[in-house]
Amino acid sequence: MAIVPLVAAKGSAGVTTAALTLAAVWPEGRGAPVVVECDPGGGDVAARFGLEVIPGVVSLAAELERSGPADPADCGNQVGGHTQELPGGLRILVAPTSPEEMRLPLERLAEDLPRLAQAKADFMVDCGRLEASAMRQHTAVLRLIQRCGLVVVVVRPELAALQHLNVWLPTLRSLDVDVLALLSGRGPYSPEEIGDTMDLRVIGALPHDPAAADVVCGASGSRPDRSALFRAARPACAAIAAVLARSQSAPVAPTPLEEAVP
Ligand SMILES: Nc1ncnc2c1ncn2[C@@H]1O[C@H](COP(=O)(O)OP(=O)(O)OP(=O)(O)O)[C@@H](O)[C@H]1O
Ligand SMILES: [Mg+2]
Repeated sequence: MAIVPLVAAKGSAGVTTAALTLAAVWPEGRGAPVVVECDPGGGDVAARFGLEVIPGVVSLAAELERSGPADPADCGNQVGGHTQELPGGLRILVAPTSPEEMRLPLERLAEDLPRLAQAKADFMVDCGRLEASAMRQHTAVLRLIQRCGLVVVVVRPELAALQHLNVWLPTLRSLDVDVLALLSGRGPYSPEEIGDTMDLRVIGALPHDPAAADVVCGASGSRPDRSALFRAARPACAAIAAVLARSQSAPVAPTPLEEAVP
């Protein structure tokens, strides 16, 4: 199956909300996805939902370190043994809050997640905010993105956020992956304007919908299936699924990592 990494150029863009929302409305035909917290800044979901941080990425990474990825036929069970279930049924690999505790698990998962993606579930990966060091070196997140063949950049449609994204586009494009933009929240610019001006493929716009975003991020309440947030997320998922279907039917040789970032 596939891995869908989501990142932002700047903090609080809405990446975690977008990852959880897209996973909640992921096309049924692709099966239920697993959300993976791979934010180098540390995870938020365990705290927001009152979960323990283990099982999660730390325990999965420790197992991978010990015994490597399971055979393709069994790697679904290997991942499944470390997931927790959110209200509404979404499966997730949660991350520790501390960036320091996240460092080694992230290195491990950047290597092994692509092999584990042979399991029957797609992975929706919250990669958090791009770190400044990624402009100079191959951080774990950049290596993971490169191996996935695509990246979804979550950005608020406002000038400052778009300028931050603009700074990162050369780095992301140098990875030779499909760069897709998902707008999040309010701003003066339309998807079309942003797409044309930045020569960027905009796959959708998640509206400012605090009530639904709160439930997605851990507030009590029923699954906001009819919310503006969920309605906008469905076509975005369909656009991502179309990119995945195209790339899976025509695999492209990966760019050598050494050449990816100048
Ligand atoms: N579409 C939306 N409508 C309304 N509120 C939103 C929306 N998306 C996110 N939010 C709110 O904005 C805040 C930040 O969202 P979120 O945690 O998803 O951002 P993030 O990019 O993951 O942040 P961080 O950089 O801290 O990881 C949260 O309070 C969330 O509820
Ligand atoms: Mg986040």
